[in-house]
Amino acid sequence: MSKKIIITIDGWSSCGKSTLAKQLARELGYVYVDSGAMYRAITLYFLRNHIDWTEKKEVQQALKDINLEFVYNPSKNVSEIYLNDENVEYVIRDLVVAEKVSDIAAIKEVRDFAVAQQQKMGAKKGIVMDGRDIGTVVFPKAELKIFMTADNSIRVERRFRELYDKNPNVSIEEVKNNLEMRDYIDSHREVSPLRQAKDALVLDNTHLNEKEQFEKALNWVKIKIVEKNAG
Ligand code: DC
Repeated sequence: MSKKIIITIDGWSSCGKSTLAKQLARELGYVYVDSGAMYRAITLYFLRNHIDWTEKKEVQQALKDINLEFVYNPSKNVSEIYLNDENVEYVIRDLVVAEKVSDIAAIKEVRDFAVAQQQKMGAKKGIVMDGRDIGTVVFPKAELKIFMTADNSIRVERRFRELYDKNPNVSIEEVKNNLEMRDYIDSHREVSPLRQAKDALVLDNTHLNEKEQFEKALNWVKIKIVEKNAG
């Protein structure tokens, strides 16, 4: 049987990381894990429970009360995130959560909590995980690391279209500001900032459609699987 590998996809917000990760996981029969959803679900819990996240003790206590799980939804052929047995896959995409998630994701205790679970999920390999620090911190020895990027204006437009479908009151300015703010915080935080791993392959999809980017990434995957099975 072919040996399985770990595929990490990191990059800026709204670069299409999750679209590509889902496509690859489906094609390969691998598990897909959206690590950003974990930080979003933790943020939702903090907001709902009025946790003062500047207080380390309060954060540590709150994390003890959080149980995160990915549950497969056969009707959509995707895994959805559950926070303490509640499906929060959709509510965590809200701008209210997006506005705070980068601050929460910068907290060391929060990252330790999420990273430990992510590493467990990858123990058996055969996984595609997307995020910001997956190739650098979570799986530094992953066989294939992809770093995704795209022009800012394209990213804003894509994200705007996605959010507008759910909430027509959202403005393009709001989306642009939120993306810029998150990219800044994500790449400047002290703990595990967004960085391109030295051995990552860069995928700039500014001028690629979904099919083209998928084909490019799948070629990389095939090469890595052949190398893995030869070695
Ligand atoms: O991928 P996303 O936009 O759903 O991620 C939400 C936020 O979580 C993002 O602003 C940065 C943070 N994040 C992180 O710090 N590390 C990860 N591995 C994934 C996401």
